[in-house]
Amino acid sequence: MDHVVTHWNKACAEVTGRSATEIVGSRNHWQPFYWEPRPVMIDLIVDGSAETLAGTYYGDKFKPSPLIPGAFEAEDFFPRLGENGRWLFFSAAPLRDSNGRIVGAIETLQDVTSRKLAELKLHQAQLDLEKLVAERTAQLAQANVSLEIDISKRETAETELLRRNAELTDLNAKLSMAQQQLLQSEKLASIGQLAAGVAHEINNPIGYIFSNFNTLEIYIDNLLSMLKFYEDAEASIAMPDVVAMLRATRERVELDFLKEDIPVLMRESKEGIVRVSKIVQDLKDFSRVDGGQDWQWANLHKGIDSTLNVVNNEVKYKADIVKEYGVIPDIECLPSQINQVILNLVVNAAHAISADRGKITLRTGTDDGTVWIEVADTGAGIAKENLSRIFDPFFTTKPVGKGTGLGLSLSYGIVQKHRGRIEVESEIGKGTCFRITLPIQRVLPNSDGKDATP
Ligand SMILES: Nc1ncnc2c1ncn2[C@@H]1O[C@H](COP(=O)(O)OP(=O)(O)OP(=O)(O)O)[C@@H](O)[C@H]1O
Ligand SMILES: [Mg+2]
Repeated sequence: MDHVVTHWNKACAEVTGRSATEIVGSRNHWQPFYWEPRPVMIDLIVDGSAETLAGTYYGDKFKPSPLIPGAFEAEDFFPRLGENGRWLFFSAAPLRDSNGRIVGAIETLQDVTSRKLAELKLHQAQLDLEKLVAERTAQLAQANVSLEIDISKRETAETELLRRNAELTDLNAKLSMAQQQLLQSEKLASIGQLAAGVAHEINNPIGYIFSNFNTLEIYIDNLLSMLKFYEDAEASIAMPDVVAMLRATRERVELDFLKEDIPVLMRESKEGIVRVSKIVQDLKDFSRVDGGQDWQWANLHKGIDSTLNVVNNEVKYKADIVKEYGVIPDIECLPSQINQVILNLVVNAAHAISADRGKITLRTGTDDGTVWIEVADTGAGIAKENLSRIFDPFFTTKPVGKGTGLGLSLSYGIVQKHRGRIEVESEIGKGTCFRITLPIQRVLPNSDGKDATP
């Protein structure tokens, strides 16, 4: 009870390196463990202060023994012991007399250094492992991020590919449409050539039919006046048989009706012949096979008229044509191409006129070395947002199969070739007016690319 050591066994001497003779009978049992004097667990038990003071001396390293009431145990490292210090597990229990009073205490020590070192190693290995796992996880996350980037790049590439594909498909469709248009215009060109050839062939016979017809008219006039003399002379014929035969024949052939009808027939036939020769002339003018692609001085009114005759079928059920021609000089141009432009404008105008019958006005005039042609309609008009696009190739508001959207772009190209201008004014619901201005004399490009008049 007075903290004097009574027993210090052999194992204790071995662990601490202090013999029983040194320690037994003294109060120096703290010495092997600590640098300064202090109570050890056994002292606290003897004093009955373990409950209150163990925390002060052992921190959270101690706990009550699960087996012996009033006993405590703890585990700690003691640097003074052995070469490099030792880990000890120690437990201290009270010794009581037969009345249960504390008369002393006993403490046992167990050297757990090797277990503790193994534990520490294990802990270190665990830490290393955790570090490794963390590193690997980070690497994986990194790989995952690059994978995601890769996937998103691929997705972008795929979208781009799809877009390109759509673009190509679109382009392809446009190409095949252009091809169709080319085929169509080639067909038209060859039909035009054929028609012009036929017209040329018809032109000749029509010519002599017409001239013969004039002669025939004179002959018939002469015959009729001759007949009149015969009729007047009939009264002086003395032979009744002859007179009767003459009357019978006159009645059979209805001579009076013939005399009336022949001039009418002649007039109508002549009109027919005039019309045929006009159509032939229009066909020739329109296709200009005789002129080909040559620059020529041409009369625009003639071109417009022949073009109107060609498209008459397309226009006549939809609109009245009004001509307000001014006085204009001949201009140097590619006449069949200018006809093509007028044809496109007139057909567009007719298409713009829907249910109600409309009006298409063709005006011409001259101004400062140029002539202008206007094609104005009372049709649907062009929406503002479309005005800038109507000259684009393939721009059309017409249903598939109706328009290819090439008419105005071709026309634009032709007007450009003539160094002219094409302008448009339009109001929705009111109508549209296209105006073409062309130089009277051909403008030749210089070698430096600038315009110059010859
Ligand atoms: N007089 C007009 N009135 C209203 N819209 C017009 C007129 N002229 C042209 N447009 C508009 O401009 C578009 C392009 O005209 P363009 O002549 O180039 O092609 P298209 O007539 O549609 O087809 P294509 O002439 O090749 O058969 C037309 O689809 C139409 O919307
Ligand atoms: Mg058109």
